[in-house]
Amino acid sequence: MRKAIVFGAAALAIVGAGAASFAEPVNDELVIDGETKIITRAKAPEGSPFEEVTSGWLYRTKETRALEADSFENPGMLYVERGEEIWNMAAGAAGKSCAECHGDASESMKGVGAHYPKWNAEAGKPFNLELQINACREANMKAEPYKFDAPDQKALVTYIKNQSLGTPVAIDLDAGEMRAWWEKGKEAYYTRMGQLNLSCASCHEQNNGKYIRADHLSQGNTNGFPTYRLKQANMVSLHNRFRGCIRDTRAAQPKAFSDVLMALEVYVAWRGTGLSVETPAVRQ
Ligand code: HEC
Ligand code: HEC
Repeated sequence: MRKAIVFGAAALAIVGAGAASFAEPVNDELVIDGETKIITRAKAPEGSPFEEVTSGWLYRTKETRALEADSFENPGMLYVERGEEIWNMAAGAAGKSCAECHGDASESMKGVGAHYPKWNAEAGKPFNLELQINACREANMKAEPYKFDAPDQKALVTYIKNQSLGTPVAIDLDAGEMRAWWEKGKEAYYTRMGQLNLSCASCHEQNNGKYIRADHLSQGNTNGFPTYRLKQANMVSLHNRFRGCIRDTRAAQPKAFSDVLMALEVYVAWRGTGLSVETPAVRQ
């Protein structure tokens, strides 16, 4: 309770008087293992409120940035390894593994994660990787869909996204009804909510670069998800992060994969167009 009040005051302080400190994101280059160059600054897509989109990595401390630059040090890599195990493991009544149909993920899944969420004509809605994996489990493996944030779900999504490490985020808004979902996501992004009466934009757009307690506010891009959060010592999925940000405004949290969070995922992924996939990113 006490923590909540302190956070509330801090949130109001950044959005209110403007007394909070400000710092530009750092000028630093991210090259993972000295090999894979990561695009952490990109020209914003047309219609963006920013001129340049910036990765959340540029807002983290030197130590946190270093963890992400070295895959032996990055704790998120354990989830990539676990994801690879699951990929090769038979499950469900059909007795099939992902690998049996999709082969070597480093080939079949290369670049795939950079283009999610993606229109799914059969479902008539955008799919993120979690929903696509569940669809494959149900239809192709005769297995139970994963429950939201099941450890195996997070590991598999992390593994698949990691096959796109370095690939720029680009989602296809021309497919199906993606533009209507983008619009719905945009509306949600700018809608003030909760007792603190804040929108996503209040923090990540108007106060981008300011500090909220010890947190340096980034643009809130999605290119690093699932991310390894040091605070939680765990992988955090995107919808978990969305729900956490919404909780911090004191609003009721929508369910994971609900239409509003799927619409937000479409819109917020688009805001980060051109940034490399960083999964598993390391954040505070
Ligand atoms: C029996 C074969 C089969 C199995 C087993 C299977 N899939 Fe699939 N998967 C498909 C087919 C066919 C498609 C393309 C059509 C569709 O969307 O259903 C697909 C599509 C996908 C896609 C979307 C690719 C893209 O380019 O957007 C992903 C991601 C995926 N599967 C992941 C998995 C994972 C992870 C598993 C294991 C948990 C798995 N699949 C198990 C057959 C399979
Ligand atoms: C009260 C301020 C606040 C509000 C409102 C808020 N966030 Fe956040 N958000 C944060 C903070 C603090 C962080 C962690 C530091 C950072 O990356 O900005 C964060 C992180 C994120 C991240 C992870 C960025 C990364 O690089 O790992 C995403 C994505 C995100 N927010 C999306 C949203 C969305 C979508 C909304 C609206 C539903 C929202 N946020 C509302 C404060 C807020």
